[in-house]
Amino acid sequence: MTQDELKRAVGEAAAAYILPHLEEDSIIGVGTGSTANCFIDALASHKHLFDGAVASSEASATRLKEHGIPVYNLNSVGSLDFYIDGADEINERLEMIKGGGAALTREKIVAAVAKEFICVADESKLVTSLGTFPLPVEVIPMSRSYVARELVKLGGDPVWREGVMTDNGNHILDVHNMKIASPMEMETRINQITGVVTNGLFALRPANILLLGTQDGVKTVKAD
Ligand code: 5RP
Repeated sequence: MTQDELKRAVGEAAAAYILPHLEEDSIIGVGTGSTANCFIDALASHKHLFDGAVASSEASATRLKEHGIPVYNLNSVGSLDFYIDGADEINERLEMIKGGGAALTREKIVAAVAKEFICVADESKLVTSLGTFPLPVEVIPMSRSYVARELVKLGGDPVWREGVMTDNGNHILDVHNMKIASPMEMETRINQITGVVTNGLFALRPANILLLGTQDGVKTVKAD
């Protein structure tokens, strides 16, 4: 199977996983990226079974609406049973690097609200240790150079993702060559730099379950 076929398979598996739990008033947290798009497409044919969705980006909100799925503002929603999203890297503890699509802050917010975070990924995303994928850090624009200098002190090589503005009006630094021995500690440390909105480590709130697309089918992985 190609990578796109694996993404479609996990998108469908995620829809099948949540369907038995959906009720008329259910609202689903939906992530961002090509794998999350496969989930949105799989969800569309079941839209009569739930109320709507909260999206982690304008792009996902647009795709949901194109399918006729109502999109709610998170501030008008009390709780979410599920958040379904992809990852750039995920380890066996289900800690992730996310933000390749620059949506990391809203992703982290929606994930924080959700009771269950279901990560959907093809097998290329599973790694033994996080950090080969450059770590995205969302920064307030005027702090960009300062934050970059602080990230160098932490051992990374930050590169400004020029031309990209997040949905929140901020900039992204992609940090190369960062040694991430403890993802939880590094997530906390980077977030303490003044000017950082958040970073793409999802270790303090990892996924609860990973639906992994492999050549032998979709595997369900729970944190070890
Ligand atoms: C966007 C993300 C995505 O989940 C991540 O980049 C994976 O994307 P894709 O499914 O296209 O590989 O974090 O900010």
